[in-house]
Amino acid sequence: MRTNYCGRLRAENQGEKVVLCGWVHRWRDHGGIVFIDLRDVTGLVQLAFDPERSGEVHSIGHSLRSEDVLRIEGTVALRPVETINPGMATGEVEVNVTEVEVFNRAETPPFSVEERADVEEVLRLRYRYIDLRREEMRDNLLLRHRVTRSVRSFLDSHDFVEVETPVLTKSTPEGARDFLVPCRLQPRKFYALPQSPQLFKQLLMVSGLDRYYQFAHAFRDEDLRADRQPEHTQIDVEMSFMTVPEIKALLEELLVSLFAEVSGDELQTPFPSMTYEEALLRYGSDKPDLRFGLPIVDVSHIFRESGFAVFARTLKDGGIVRAIRAPGAAKLSRREIDGLTDYAVSEGAKGLAYLIIREGLEVKSPIAKFMSAGEIDSTLAAVGAEAGDIIFFVADREKVAVPVLGAVRNRLARELDLVQPGWKFLWVTDFPMFRLDDDTGEIVAEHHPFTLPNEETIGYLEDEPLKVRGSLYDLVLNGVEIASGSLRIHKPDLQRKILHILGHEDHQMEADFGFLMEALRYGAPPHGGLAFGLDRLVMLMAGLDTIRDVIAFPKTQSGGCPLTGAPATVGKRQLKELKLKQ
Ligand code: AMO
Ligand code: AMP
Repeated sequence: MRTNYCGRLRAENQGEKVVLCGWVHRWRDHGGIVFIDLRDVTGLVQLAFDPERSGEVHSIGHSLRSEDVLRIEGTVALRPVETINPGMATGEVEVNVTEVEVFNRAETPPFSVEERADVEEVLRLRYRYIDLRREEMRDNLLLRHRVTRSVRSFLDSHDFVEVETPVLTKSTPEGARDFLVPCRLQPRKFYALPQSPQLFKQLLMVSGLDRYYQFAHAFRDEDLRADRQPEHTQIDVEMSFMTVPEIKALLEELLVSLFAEVSGDELQTPFPSMTYEEALLRYGSDKPDLRFGLPIVDVSHIFRESGFAVFARTLKDGGIVRAIRAPGAAKLSRREIDGLTDYAVSEGAKGLAYLIIREGLEVKSPIAKFMSAGEIDSTLAAVGAEAGDIIFFVADREKVAVPVLGAVRNRLARELDLVQPGWKFLWVTDFPMFRLDDDTGEIVAEHHPFTLPNEETIGYLEDEPLKVRGSLYDLVLNGVEIASGSLRIHKPDLQRKILHILGHEDHQMEADFGFLMEALRYGAPPHGGLAFGLDRLVMLMAGLDTIRDVIAFPKTQSGGCPLTGAPATVGKRQLKELKLKQ
């Protein structure tokens, strides 16, 4: 039907007769000659409909409108020098049209494909097929394709075997709610959509497959955010007979190869690594953004006897006082500083105390008068203050203060323009195995219940389980958790013990995970793995801040698809068939 793609024509094609297909992107009439930018998946090329060449062809050209779909025949010509468009890949040429066939005329689209206007997202999702015609959206999908292709080829060349695991399955606990699917053949029973292929990939290790991967859809019924969808894609991998350093090194190699191939960037390995505890202490987050410094410094020891009651009281009650030195922040206006305080309060702080550091390390602050010279000097030394800085403080219970400090740190970096370009990878390791659920107070798994406790802390399992750390490793890129993994339990007794700690009674354990425990008894190798959040990885590589822009058909904040109308009500008959209604 066609000989060439629009976006690939170049000066070398001069004089060639070509047949092109595509959409009318832009239309204009320049004193008789009609110019059209024709668009296909590769980009644009300018067409010229000259009445002197053919009156009939020109008159069809004249009648065309945005988004009409055509096939044209014509000859590639060099543009006159003064009309060369250096901003366009095909800007040196145009095609003089000799034949035109209109496949379909288009209604006026609900928003322009051509202009980068701000269109409401719900409207974009309602007409996603038009939204995806826009250059940046098309590029996002093409980037995603290049990422999956590169990862697949790396894994393939490292002996990984791609295996599909079921979508209609049983609940796999990953900490979210399940989506359920009623089973018609077994009334009142439900499949769960997998929150991840976790148990199946472990079973594949028991089966001796050695190295598995899958681009797996994972389904989680949780509250949605910019980087969370009810259905996301994981690059899911699992390996047998490998140590944590070996697993990490292989995954780093994967990323080195991916970034070299797709972004042309050279990554430095090994990636830095930090324990969960250290990440919280120094950065106030288990996914610290290392594109900027702004470390958090504990100054509790300085203020135990302070005359500043807010600090002294907090410390007496078992709390902490931590500080961040914000370089050059003294230039912020009073209003901007108040804005930061309001932000800290909105994140849960009781306030945001600060010291402004002037020339000669002279301190200006409404709270300075409550502090002794010794306290101030020690603080300046502890954070390494310089003239022009502001030191911000949060005093509170550790659990409250840590996330606030992390949030303030991120906000300061943006406000002071401290975020450096580039890729900052970080392994965060040794997460706790368990935590207490905020709402119920019950002990729950921090990751999932199949994680192997690390050797140093496994001794606490019986008496102080909250002290046990897992052989866990998250991978953070520029402050986003892009992957998470662990070594798994391969001994049935230990698995049983962990499930016990998590409150599973024997009979329930048998019903929920009997198949896993059984498999572990039939010769399970030591194994471990990880899953990348593909959507998040591509989002970062595309320089975007929502995964919705790298998913072809994502859901809205409320879990809906404005295009298809999902989720939808179903008829009585269907419900009856499923025995969900009498
Ligand atoms: P985890 O639950 O951490 O681990 O998920 C792995 C990675 O998937 C991404 N991710 C999400 N992306 C978009 N929307 C969501 N709702 C969402 N939830 C998670 C994150 C995350 O790091 N079975 C384990 C992996 C393993 O241990 O091998 C698992 O699913 O980037
Ligand atoms: P106040 O004594 O409440 O007027 O607070 C004096 C200063 O200390 C203000 O700048 C408050 O924002 C700040 N502040 C109050 N409570 C805290 C706290 N828990 N941590 C850090 N700063 C605080």
